[in-house]
Amino acid sequence: MRLDKFVCKSTELTKTEAIAHIHSGAVRVNDIVTTQEATQVHENNQVTLNGRRLKARDFRYILIHKPAGTICSNIDELYPSIFNYLDVDKVSELHIVGRLDVDTTGLVLMTDDGRWSFNITRPAKGCCKVYRVHLAKEISIEVVSKFKSGVNLQGEQQPTLPALLEIITPKEVLLTITEGRFHQVKRMFAAVGNRVRSLHREQIGDIRLDVDVGQWRYLCHEEIQSFSK
Ligand code: URA
Repeated sequence: MRLDKFVCKSTELTKTEAIAHIHSGAVRVNDIVTTQEATQVHENNQVTLNGRRLKARDFRYILIHKPAGTICSNIDELYPSIFNYLDVDKVSELHIVGRLDVDTTGLVLMTDDGRWSFNITRPAKGCCKVYRVHLAKEISIEVVSKFKSGVNLQGEQQPTLPALLEIITPKEVLLTITEGRFHQVKRMFAAVGNRVRSLHREQIGDIRLDVDVGQWRYLCHEEIQSFSK
């Protein structure tokens, strides 16, 4: 990891402040003053700031129940950001693992561990995301096999990967997909002449949503490990 990132992760300093300290000569790596913020440091390097040994904070893994009318972005735009619901420091270091649309509710994961999130979002990893969908029109049973073999989304060449459709009632279904294309669920139902009325993500991999709307919690060790297999 870059030295400026390491200093940020192990202190309360912002990136700008960390760089200023590095430039001032206050930071040593293995007892050598290091003024280049891009220097790569590893876990076993000894990094000090004004003589104090720094230890990088552990990565954070968070589950949150996204309310409708919030956006999966670090900045409030037309709608409030989902990050406003978190009371943790350095929120800007966290990123969303698979965004939801403004009107979609449900399970969102956040982390500052880029390698971990890649295991969830990369289609080749086959991580399942389960959505509960309320539809405008009654669903026909043929859609189950269409989604299983893949449908063509408007404007795209590649059909969708096999998806599992479970019919709960004629207008309520569960859809399990392993990709995360732009507006994928809404576009899949549009591709079969239907329309999504409401969309809620219930599960990602083995992790199920178990907190109330707007609430969040840290993932436990087993949940974090479940994506590293
Ligand atoms: N698919 C969609 O269309 N919207 C979402 O928010 C998530 C998946």
